[in-house]
Order: sequence, then structure tokens, then C-alpha cells
Amino acid sequence: SMQGHSIELVVNGQSHALAIDPRQSLLDVLRETLDLTGTKKGCNQGACGACTILVDGKRVVSCLTLAAMHDGGEITTIEGIANGEELHPLQTAFIEHEGFQCGYCTPGQIMSGIGCISEGHAGSPDEIRFWMSGNICRCGAYPGIVAAVADAAERS
Ligand code: FES
Ligand code: FES
Repeated sequence: SMQGHSIELVVNGQSHALAIDPRQSLLDVLRETLDLTGTKKGCNQGACGACTILVDGKRVVSCLTLAAMHDGGEITTIEGIANGEELHPLQTAFIEHEGFQCGYCTPGQIMSGIGCISEGHAGSPDEIRFWMSGNICRCGAYPGIVAAVADAAERS
């Protein structure tokens, strides 16, 4: 139905007035309503981190939160972090350090890594492993992921 709960989301700097189903997760609104499919759905129950985005600068697993709770929120997804043609420094670091294999977990890892760095939780490999532990990589690309976050943290 076109009748829904009215919210406004600012996604990657662009404002969207939306009529949503109040039961929709933020993840489903991003992927299905806004067609921003860079954010991945892994477990859909908060256990894998594939759906990690930033809301008002803070890391959020978007499968576990209702879009309706974020009226007026500033959302950043993997589609919004590059500066035109120029990759975000953490994207570059993931390439340089081979922080991915199949790539399914990568958008969530990168968004979580951006949060981890901005929180000041990327001071050592152990600290990065701890604060990134909600982001599961089935391919086991952890050494590259940790190296990429550490490298980007040092440069930021
Ligand atoms: Fe959200 Fe796994 S899809 S945590
Ligand atoms: Fe395949 Fe992480 S690169 S799940």
C-alpha cells in the first residue's frame, strides 16, 4: 500500500521523504525502497555485521533497527563514502592489503572500520580485532581487514 509511516532520511547527503511500513528494517528500506544494495543482508539478525552502516556517524547494524526510529537521521552507506572518483582511504587500504576475497562482508567491514577509526578504537591490531569482532568474514580475510584498518587509522 502507498499509505505508510512518513519519515525523512538523509542518505549519503541526499534527503528522501518516504512512506514506509513501520515494521521495515532500516536495511530493507535502504536495499528495497532506495535500491542501495551495497549494504548486504547476511544473517538479518544482528550476528554478522554485513549490514553495518553509519547513522549520525555511529555504527549501526541496519537489519536490527526499524527505519521508523530514524526519522531525520543522517545515514551513510558504502555508496556514499568515495569522493567522486576518489576512493575513501579505507577502500584503498582494503585493496592494498587484500582485505577481501568474495567481497560479501566488505561493505560492512569498511563501514565498521570507518566507525572503529573515528571512535579511536584502532590503535593496535588487537584493539581493531576486538572492536571489529561483530563483523564476520566467512572467507577468513581477517589479516588483511585488520591491516587495512590499521593502515587507514595511521594515515587519518
Ligand atoms: Fe545485519 Fe547480519 S545482516 S548483522
Ligand atoms: Fe568473503 Fe569476507 S570476503 S565473507
